Amino acid sequence: MTLKAVSAIDNPAIFCLVASQEQVGARLDKYSRLVIVSLLSRFRLFCLLARYILYCISNYLPESRTLPLGLTIRSDTANMAPINVCMVGTGEYTTGFVGGGASGSDKKVGVVGLTLFDLRRRGKVGNLSMVGTSGQKFPAIREHLTKNITEHYNGLDTSFESYPANDQRDSEAYKKAIDALSPGDAITIFTPDPTHYPIALYAIERKIHVMITKPAVKLLSEHQHLIEEAKKNNVFVYIEHHKRFDPAYADARDRAVRGLLGEFNYFYSYMSQPKSQLETFKAWAGKDSDISYYLNSHHIDINESMVPDFRPVKVTASASAGIATDLGCVPETEDTITLLVDWEKKDGSGRRATGVYTASWTAPQKAGVHSNQYFHYMASKGEVRVNQAKRGYELAGDDAGLFHLNPFGEFCWLPCKED
Ligand SMILES: NC(=O)c1ccc[n+]([C@@H]2O[C@H](COP(=O)([O-])OP(=O)(O)OC[C@H]3O[C@@H](n4cnc5c(N)ncnc54)[C@H](O)[C@@H]3O)[C@@H](O)[C@H]2O)c1
Repeated sequence: MTLKAVSAIDNPAIFCLVASQEQVGARLDKYSRLVIVSLLSRFRLFCLLARYILYCISNYLPESRTLPLGLTIRSDTANMAPINVCMVGTGEYTTGFVGGGASGSDKKVGVVGLTLFDLRRRGKVGNLSMVGTSGQKFPAIREHLTKNITEHYNGLDTSFESYPANDQRDSEAYKKAIDALSPGDAITIFTPDPTHYPIALYAIERKIHVMITKPAVKLLSEHQHLIEEAKKNNVFVYIEHHKRFDPAYADARDRAVRGLLGEFNYFYSYMSQPKSQLETFKAWAGKDSDISYYLNSHHIDINESMVPDFRPVKVTASASAGIATDLGCVPETEDTITLLVDWEKKDGSGRRATGVYTASWTAPQKAGVHSNQYFHYMASKGEVRVNQAKRGYELAGDDAGLFHLNPFGEFCWLPCKED
């Protein structure tokens, strides 16, 4: 006998038993069908009532409880208590505040702060704090966030606790900020690359979850140590490779991983930002890190995630120089870095592939987009080409000119508010 159970849409408490007339009608008379409907409907009502009572009780419990018969009920509210988050780094990506005002890039109000202020509004996170190296910047940062976020987004609260104090400079203020958190809370790290490792380690050792921007760290040994410590302390350590969530990139990766394109053979990528970034990042550009760590890390991660059966076996690199130093950067600053990587299939079949990754921070100022970014992946049965600089969304204005916007993330480059 084939029976199909369907919950009535307008009254979920009523359980309907639908049986096709031809199959069931002959075997069930009207009376037995009514008995089944009635029994099931009472059982379902009982279940709904029991679930509702358990839900009500659990809301009054501070934590999970084990009841007689081994039944455990857990308080949703206790379980989902919002975590407190400390943002480490107060620069372009966290606040959009650069060199005394809003960044000239597409991150005029930052990304991390805005997101966390909104998550707090929705009750997903609790207290927010921010830590930099110079407390003197905080009054101006607060003014910038009030003007460009609170006054633009329906009064969104942009308040936060700050470290170090307004009259202090302290490159280790992150320790005090992390000490103020409790195990299970979280930090985000958007600071110059060499500082990611010590800050992350300090937090992990105190059982704080960590989100580190790319590139996670600069040395393989540091990377491995963080994984080890994260396991030991039972915390999440997440690397912010946001290109993985770009719908076009994710689709390309899915096709490659499922083998629809065949065996990996060649990958080429280019990613660049305008020369003005050298001014934004002048505190560390060329000294503490380079443009390959900064931008190539995106496409190397994408390539690696597309080809789990391959591993890189040889890396050579080449760089151009002269533009950044003409602009006043330290002598060791390179303009455009290209990596040439040999990949080998892990199964010993002898299959090889080539990856070429180029990154630059000396692109023209008015290239139409803040970041040029494209790649070409070729395999034995097919290829993909993705150009995510101009995501198919153009906006023009009398004063602003033509812009290629990112409909997945950017806010308006033209005034969004009616004046
Ligand atoms: N700007 C972007 O578009 C972007 C995008 C993705 C990832 N990132 C990554 O973010 C990191 C840089 O952050 P940014 O872009 O905001 O740069 P930024 O130079 O504008 O800001 C860096 C911030 O780090 C702070 N800082 C430096 N040392 C510190 C320390 N010891 N303790 C606490 N704070 C410290 C500085 O005070 C500054 O506020 C890099 O690793 C970069 O790869 C940047």
